[in-house]
Amino acid sequence: MSRSLEKSCNITIFGGGNGAHVLSGLSSDVVNANVTVVDTFQDEAERWTKAMAANGFTVKYGNGKDLVQAPGKPKFTVTKEVQKNVEKADVVILCMPAFLHEMVLTSVAPYVPETCPIVGLPGQPGFEYQALFHLRQNGKKGSVMSIETLPWACRIAKYGQEVDVIGTKECIYFSSVDQQSSGYVGAGLVQLIQTLLGAKPVLKREENIIKYTFLYRPTVHPPLMYAKWKNWDGKPLDAAPLFYQGADEEAVKYLDGATNEMIKIADFLQTKYPDMDFSGISSMQDCFIGEYPEQIKDKSTLLSCLKTNQAYDGLVHPMKKTDDGKFVPDFKYRYLMEDVPYGLLIIKQIAEMAGVATPIIDEIILWAQTKLDAEYLKDGKLCFVDRKHGRIPMAFGIKTLEEFVNYCK
Ligand SMILES: NC(=O)c1ccc[n+]([C@@H]2O[C@H](COP(=O)([O-])OP(=O)(O)OC[C@H]3O[C@@H](n4cnc5c(N)ncnc54)[C@H](O)[C@@H]3O)[C@@H](O)[C@H]2O)c1
Repeated sequence: MSRSLEKSCNITIFGGGNGAHVLSGLSSDVVNANVTVVDTFQDEAERWTKAMAANGFTVKYGNGKDLVQAPGKPKFTVTKEVQKNVEKADVVILCMPAFLHEMVLTSVAPYVPETCPIVGLPGQPGFEYQALFHLRQNGKKGSVMSIETLPWACRIAKYGQEVDVIGTKECIYFSSVDQQSSGYVGAGLVQLIQTLLGAKPVLKREENIIKYTFLYRPTVHPPLMYAKWKNWDGKPLDAAPLFYQGADEEAVKYLDGATNEMIKIADFLQTKYPDMDFSGISSMQDCFIGEYPEQIKDKSTLLSCLKTNQAYDGLVHPMKKTDDGKFVPDFKYRYLMEDVPYGLLIIKQIAEMAGVATPIIDEIILWAQTKLDAEYLKDGKLCFVDRKHGRIPMAFGIKTLEEFVNYCK
């Protein structure tokens, strides 16, 4: 069944990677959606435009329901031009890794129409206050919507031409801050984004902005990386080790340890703010079972959940190949590069503001910062991290829990 919007809507998508490919193919299939992709990275816009003209554009699902756009008849355009496409936008969507958000928001905010919403798809922890910061600095009143994660597991098969959707999530959370009441706002904005995505995943609103930060769970990838590589002797490996299914008791100790610290912070906040809802931040084991009810064969322990989850078949640690064909870990991959400065550090500042100790999270951050050539923690305290290199609340002037909650209103 075709999807349609009631009236014509200019959708400007920023990005050029896997997710941006799926989103542009999917949303340009909606009647009345005028989609422009802005991709300023290297020569991607040119390559994408050429590939589409010659070969068309396909979003492949592998179930016979592929979305196919014929060669020479693309339903969307790809360009490097920021100002013109932001000025005419009814909604701006960022679909890219979090470390690019600061650069893109800086270039978008001066030109975005006064009530045009900005959507992070995904936004990930801290997107709300970062986008609000840029909008407010430029006197803009658009809404900000932050979607917790990408709706699909997806990989580009042929750049600018074909992308594979490996899986689509059933349901994802979002947070949203409405600064005004006109244009796409509130339920109207949610309906717009849901129409672009289709029936799945179902978008579910999380009202509590602090709890939303926990739901992203930056306590998965960094603990698994830490457990695997903290004692690595530096010698290249013959093959890339399994990421989830290669976990051991040490990995469980850090996964559970970091997650339980997050639950401890949530429990503390629930007592301090009885009117806010901090429920539902489950243990790591329950979280995996909730996400993969069918695929996990042995649900008895956290370790068995990791080892017997068929969705994780074949997923390996991020590695770089050496000249002689061996493998070394890639510490600059998103598992650390995104999930520490755009995840774990935000949890750490919330813990500091709440006065809750987090020894396991600290241990992981202290190791990760040596791999990311950064200094995030010193003498047990979080250091200031500038906005270009992380998204901790203090970089946006937020120093207390009250300021955090009030900023995102
Ligand atoms: N792809 C997935 O299956 C998946 C699943 C869950 C979550 N995510 C998350 O969703 C987000 C988007 O993922 P993705 O796979 O689409 O990203 P991606 O890795 O495909 O993004 C790469 C793109 O980012 C842009 N880029 C990279 N470096 C840049 C630079 N220095 N300057 C300007 N642009 C640059 C380029 O357009 C590049 O093609 C990420 O946060 C990722 O962690 C992805």
